[in-house]
Amino acid sequence: MNQTIPRGIHVAIIMDGNGRWATGRGQLRTAGHIAGARTVRRIVETAPGCGIGTLTLYAFSADNWRRPSREVALLMRLFRRYLVSEVARCVTNGVRMRIIGRRDRIPAELLRAITNAEHATRDGRKLELRIAVDYSSRDAIMRAAAKLPAGMPDGDRSRHAFARLLSSVDHGIGESRDVDLLIRTGGEQRLSDFLLWECAYAELYFTRRMWPEFAPADLSTAVEEFHARERRFGTVPEAAAG
Ligand code: FPP
Repeated sequence: MNQTIPRGIHVAIIMDGNGRWATGRGQLRTAGHIAGARTVRRIVETAPGCGIGTLTLYAFSADNWRRPSREVALLMRLFRRYLVSEVARCVTNGVRMRIIGRRDRIPAELLRAITNAEHATRDGRKLELRIAVDYSSRDAIMRAAAKLPAGMPDGDRSRHAFARLLSSVDHGIGESRDVDLLIRTGGEQRLSDFLLWECAYAELYFTRRMWPEFAPADLSTAVEEFHARERRFGTVPEAAAG
């Protein structure tokens, strides 16, 4: 498996607001998810042009299993349909797809689509698209912690080793990436158990725009704002720049 990560920043998106977008139009919540899948397609196409090398999308959290079974079933079908229908386009556009999260509770048909999509797109070099399904950051951290060898010293080397463990438990990619910019649509301002470790120094960007109406121009605006921010990583500006 090719492990080289495409150049560019890591943007993670909590795609919120599908349900409200739909009910606000007198439609079923599921219509919002269907519209949301169209937004995913547009944003994935736009991402490399915005200087994004890794794009991680929060599609289904471990807590989302508690939603009504019809909604869960529709989401699983949508994910499968997306993976199947987008493979050829991803190969053409150099997009490598990876699904992160637990795999032991996912329907067999979706699992097959995941395996196929990951395999078919493995050589993509322009964008790594990570889709989080049945994902819980706290759960991943706990499973990685359980694998830590005893007696690891404090410090950066251990931190890097832990980050690798963390990505191996859930991502299966052995390549950890801190998030540079976290976007959440839909107006809420919380992390909802998404990439808690990887977001340690992420810039946060919240927008009231609902996910189905989040446009390529909104992504560009968020990335422009990110570049205008001063990132210090706990130090002073001159040292951070160095
Ligand atoms: C949260 O919004 C959204 C989800 C739980 C599902 C996200 C799914 C998609 C965007 C569909 C397609 C995804 C892929 C990867 C093809 P919500 O429905 O909870 O919104 P609400 O807060 O308005 O109820």
